[in-house]
Amino acid sequence: MANIRAAITGVGAFLPEYRLTNEEISKMVDTSDEWIMQRIGIKERRILKEEGKATSDMGARAVENLLEKTGTSPDEVDMLICATITPDMNIPATANIIAHKTNIHNAWSFDLNAACSGFIFSLSTATQFIESGRYKKVVIVAAEKMSSIINYEDRTTCPLFGDGAAAVLVEPSTEDVGVIDYINRVDGLGRHHLHIKAGGSLKPASEETVKNKEHYLYQEGQAVFKAAVSSMADVAVEIMEKHNISAKDIAWLVPHQANMRIIEATARRMGISKKQVMINIRKYGNTTAATIPLCLWDYEKQLKKGDNIILAAFGAGFTWGSTYLKWAYDPK
Ligand SMILES: CC(C)(COP(=O)(O)OP(=O)(O)OC[C@H]1O[C@@H](n2cnc3c(N)ncnc32)[C@H](O)[C@@H]1OP(=O)(O)O)[C@@H](O)C(=O)NCCC(=O)NCCS
Repeated sequence: MANIRAAITGVGAFLPEYRLTNEEISKMVDTSDEWIMQRIGIKERRILKEEGKATSDMGARAVENLLEKTGTSPDEVDMLICATITPDMNIPATANIIAHKTNIHNAWSFDLNAACSGFIFSLSTATQFIESGRYKKVVIVAAEKMSSIINYEDRTTCPLFGDGAAAVLVEPSTEDVGVIDYINRVDGLGRHHLHIKAGGSLKPASEETVKNKEHYLYQEGQAVFKAAVSSMADVAVEIMEKHNISAKDIAWLVPHQANMRIIEATARRMGISKKQVMINIRKYGNTTAATIPLCLWDYEKQLKKGDNIILAAFGAGFTWGSTYLKWAYDPK
């Protein structure tokens, strides 16, 4: 029997309508469009403003878009993985809520918390279930309402993040397409530089934690920046060397969209020209787990069957990794 590979066979997405511009952020904190564009490269980000709407609402819309585009019935889905660090609530998993909202009743589902590496860790997980022959249709949905954990009085974090969701379908293929390899890594020591201080079992929510704004994302920007630049590039170069591929063999690098300078440094280390790099940070900001599938969704029409693609991510944990895949379909 021919080897089974796990191939992405469709991409869907949902973005909230509201655009939070640098001009508006400049009225909230002491910053400017010029500083944000120079140091980060973000012009605007989408924000889910509607009262009572959560991560699962965006995730469900992305999954509906995916199922419609790929002609997949909800009953055919075997498994759904939701990559998120902004679940609707601590219990239950947001994946279960998304499955319920999209009428996916024959699947089991769970959340995967790997922050900005959430999509690539989920793709590696889905790959196992597809390659083993156990499942035929796995949905990965990366969805984040980052605005729910960002302090809009903190100029060092609030310009960075945005809300959004994107979903992919992963199916078996016996052709020369799909996930070829991945390298994923973590370093728990990195937690000190990027975390949320309260609301977990270490420090449950209290009047004090709310007063001290300890339910917002805490980040030491420079330490995260340095680790992201070196780790993301190292692992992307490692996977290229392992498979003896050079920049000229690669159609696209799809890097996590955290900071334009991190994206450029990663591409430089890989010897890849800017033309081969998917970039949409300017319009969506850092949507954490959703950045990579949102890039695939934005660039879908430019992708051709057999294209060599390198995905690379770095995030809280620390978590990081790189995936080497061959794109499975021509533009439809
Ligand atoms: C957050 C980040 C943009 C800050 O950029 P930086 O060049 O490292 O800036 P620094 O933190 O060294 O701060 C430099 C100065 O700019 C100031 N500054 C920070 N944010 C600012 C803003 N939005 N507007 C204006 N000034 C700002 C700082 O207060 C500091 O001022 P000081 O020198 O008077 O103390 C950058 O560190 C970064 O992108 N880090 C990685 C973030 C990330 O990717 N996180 C997600 C996980 S993947």
